[in-house]
Amino acid sequence: MVEATSRQHPSDATVLPLPVLQMLRMSTAVQHKALEARLPLTHPDLDRTTYQRIIQAYYGFHVPLQRLIAGFSGTEGADPERQKIPALLKDLHALGLSDADIQRLPLCTDLPALSSHAQLLGIMYVMEGATLGGQVLRRIIAHRLGIGADNGGEFLDVYGRETGRLWKSFLKSLADADHPDYNQETVDAACATFTCFERWLERTGVLL
Ligand code: HEM
Repeated sequence: MVEATSRQHPSDATVLPLPVLQMLRMSTAVQHKALEARLPLTHPDLDRTTYQRIIQAYYGFHVPLQRLIAGFSGTEGADPERQKIPALLKDLHALGLSDADIQRLPLCTDLPALSSHAQLLGIMYVMEGATLGGQVLRRIIAHRLGIGADNGGEFLDVYGRETGRLWKSFLKSLADADHPDYNQETVDAACATFTCFERWLERTGVLL
């Protein structure tokens, strides 16, 4: 994994800390690529059954993660605008699951640690960033499977037209908290979130 926490100033060789967003991008790039390659969402053979299993696995991760975030704070992590469970429930119902089926879905218990605001930002970076990739994925799913927002594809477009605005507002919260004393904690939480998510998807058997 690429890791960098400082940079050389071009003129005087002073070591300056990197902005937290740059640290996050560099440190999670390999994990993002790996997950992108292993998730069959862009695979030419993707079928409805596999798609449904992926949405079930996403539900099994987001529900306990959302509870963890809500339990930690009532601040931006529990922002009503950023709730993703209603979209997942709508998709699961549209894909044919009953309330009882949904109740029986397994939930992930191996979650990233969350005991500081710095860690919350790292977790949110991963889950909010995924809404950007969702914009690419929703088009693929619509094209390949004929699934859109009203018949099982709401989650991939969870913020709809608000995607850009919500991402920018998250980046502002990240920039406001940017501090060399805490940035590594944020990066570690983001890496842990990718690791936990990949492990969960692996366990549920949906990865290539
Ligand atoms: C097949 C699956 C995926 C594809 C094709 C994909 C694709 C993309 C694309 C194209 C972007 C950049 C969007 C932009 O700049 O407007 C992006 C950003 C991002 N994605 Fe994914 N993604 C996938 C899965 C995921 C997953 C599962 C996660 C995490 C759970 C994730 C986390 C992120 C993050 C954190 C960013 C923001 C990077 C940044 O700008 O700092 N992605 N993804």
